[in-house]
Amino acid sequence: MAKIAPSVLSCDFGNIQRDIEMLNASAADYIHVDIMDGVFVPNISFGLPVTEAMNKHAQKPLDVHLMIVNPENYVESFKKAGASIISVHYEACNHLHRNLQQIKALGIKAGVAMNPHTSVSLLADVINDIDLVCLMSVNPGFGGQKFIENTYSKVAQLKDLIIQKNASTEIEIDGGVNAETAPKLIKAGADVLVAGSFVFNSNNPAQTIAELKAL
Ligand code: DX5
Ligand code: ZN
Repeated sequence: MAKIAPSVLSCDFGNIQRDIEMLNASAADYIHVDIMDGVFVPNISFGLPVTEAMNKHAQKPLDVHLMIVNPENYVESFKKAGASIISVHYEACNHLHRNLQQIKALGIKAGVAMNPHTSVSLLADVINDIDLVCLMSVNPGFGGQKFIENTYSKVAQLKDLIIQKNASTEIEIDGGVNAETAPKLIKAGADVLVAGSFVFNSNNPAQTIAELKAL
């Protein structure tokens, strides 16, 4: 049974409190918060004040996905805004090991997100320092994109690396998760599934979360 992390990028921003309360009452494990700066990715989402407002209502851990350049300048502020997990992008960090220690020193979980073109083998020397790897199964920047099929083999490779290094890292998949891709991802070794449009565009988001959770 995988953990489910609905992405509030696809929620109704005019009704954030209502949607967070729906997630509180649902089978969701984390609340996935997508931060985009318009530089690392070609889109801008929202930032610290909105994350803080979400956290005021949230009763589940905020899983903050930083799609921003220079993430080291903002991790402390996002921890203060309520983050329980912060993922920085592999491609945005010249000093990934240092950035991971910086997040852990705040007393929260440290994650690394990877773009579809980035090989999981690049994590071999740092995997034991990572609480969660967020494998992007779409190019980051937008919800509702088509799942990239190569992700299944990346999940399997990452699982092998984690076992080989005796690490306790969680594998999270982000992008294009739905009823068709989710079972295959779980079979390949995924521990956490992020789902944005599939959850929030469904007729009954809480039920959709429960269905993903039951897989
Ligand atoms: C994309 C974000 C995702 C996005 C996923 O850049 O990181 O978390 O919300 O959306 P779906 O589930 O619609 O592909
Ligand atoms: Zn995300």
